[in-house]
Amino acid sequence: MHVIAELVPMTTEWLYLAAAVLFIVGIRDLSSAETARRGNMLAAVGMVLAILGTMQHGLIVKWEWIAVGMVAGGVIGLLMAVFMPMTAMPERIAIVNGLGGAASGLVGICEVIRHVISPPDGATAADFDAFHVGVAGLEIMLGALTFTGSMVAFGKLRGLVSSKPLTYPGQNVVNVLWLVVMLGLIAGLVMAKLDPVFFFVLAAMALLFGVMFVLPIGGADMPVVIAMLNAYSGLAAAATGFVLSNKVLIIAGALDGSSGLLLSLLMCRAMNRSLTNVLFGAVGGGTAVASGGGELQGDPQSISAVEAAERLFDARRVIVVPGYGMAAAGAHFAIREMADVLKERGISVKYAIHPVAGRMPGHMNVLLADANVPYDDLVEMDEINPEFAEADVALVMGANDICNPAARTAEGSPIYGMPILDVDQAAQVIVIKRSMSPGFAGISNELFVAPNCAMLFGDGKQVAEQLVETLTL
Ligand code: TAP
Repeated sequence: MHVIAELVPMTTEWLYLAAAVLFIVGIRDLSSAETARRGNMLAAVGMVLAILGTMQHGLIVKWEWIAVGMVAGGVIGLLMAVFMPMTAMPERIAIVNGLGGAASGLVGICEVIRHVISPPDGATAADFDAFHVGVAGLEIMLGALTFTGSMVAFGKLRGLVSSKPLTYPGQNVVNVLWLVVMLGLIAGLVMAKLDPVFFFVLAAMALLFGVMFVLPIGGADMPVVIAMLNAYSGLAAAATGFVLSNKVLIIAGALDGSSGLLLSLLMCRAMNRSLTNVLFGAVGGGTAVASGGGELQGDPQSISAVEAAERLFDARRVIVVPGYGMAAAGAHFAIREMADVLKERGISVKYAIHPVAGRMPGHMNVLLADANVPYDDLVEMDEINPEFAEADVALVMGANDICNPAARTAEGSPIYGMPILDVDQAAQVIVIKRSMSPGFAGISNELFVAPNCAMLFGDGKQVAEQLVETLTL
């Protein structure tokens, strides 16, 4: 403790204050692609200051385990940052989120053991008053359910658990009752001073609840679920802050909790769905149904990569519309190369970014940034939509729902009312995908049989590489 205090001539309180300010500024910077890297860095520095502040804590008795934790955590973090591909980002967030929840839950259990079950000499259970018992209960419940819920979300994203909603009759009622019993247990611990063993019952119930809560949600809705679980782990961390009387944890937890909730709501709004529909509607993974209530009228025109390359060369304005298929195929590098070749020929190339393209917020921005596409070429939906009417070619790369005209017209469709990219307004549309299969919403897309649309069937990466090869011949 004294070594750290000598090396860092700031009190814990000042270090915590500086960390909190850096967290807040960092989150603000994360809201724009241009400043996101700086935001990440500021928040990381904030975290270092928070750790240094905590290391000055007078009650630290053993440094060995802290050192082991720091080295192990640092190595795992470094390996994940270096080796996990951008396409695995949703899974990575799920793991990190789950481990954050587990850490909060475990600290809660430790505090209960330390204060209530076997208090050290001189201390009594009375030191842990009703308020502390209540927040420790919340911390354990939220931490445990975040852990298992995030692990199931990871499994669904990775394909280890079926991405289809796993449901049974009356499931939502059972889940709500389960939650009510857990809250009842916390109330009992606070008011009726139940035996502390019920903290362990609560932890076990919450672990199971995390699984029960996430299994009925479709795989493609996992980003919303992960953002929600992020909000819960933030609340668990804030509760930990109250239990430990640690201000920086309260502030960081509150920031995490509120930003997670806002992010889930923003994602739902961009899909024109309610949070209730996402969490309890068991949407996704169903069989394909026609978008407007009938079968597709007409057959799709299919073209080869050579024909597509000719159309691209003849164009003056090209808009690339990336979607989930670009991420799944890992086609973003080849698409950037293709755009470079077109630009060298004086052809304008822009990327139309739909807010829920892919499977996580900012999915396309992250992938395209990874492939070094300049930020200025990425244009948000509202800004690019008027430009489709001027475009010679809209090149749809593995996207489907985000450009499905059924969203405008088909009232019964699951995407009705969702704002879409006006791809159909372009003079010509070329769609790269493997088949006529539907996207996440499970509905057919009339764009694919429109007279101005041609399908270029194949795996996204292979087709994009063929295009580059043909364009550079
Ligand atoms: P989707 O509508 O899911 O369509 C993706 C298309 O990619 C599929 O039709 C598929 O067709 C194609 N594809 C898959 N693998 C491919 C490959 N290797 N090569 C080429 N094509 C491939 O994706 P979208 O247009 O990006 O829309 C996103 C959907 O996810 C929306 O419905 C949205 O509401 C939902 N969602 C998004 C989020 C966030 S935050 N982004 C969160 C929850 C839900 P083939 O199988 O024929 O190839």
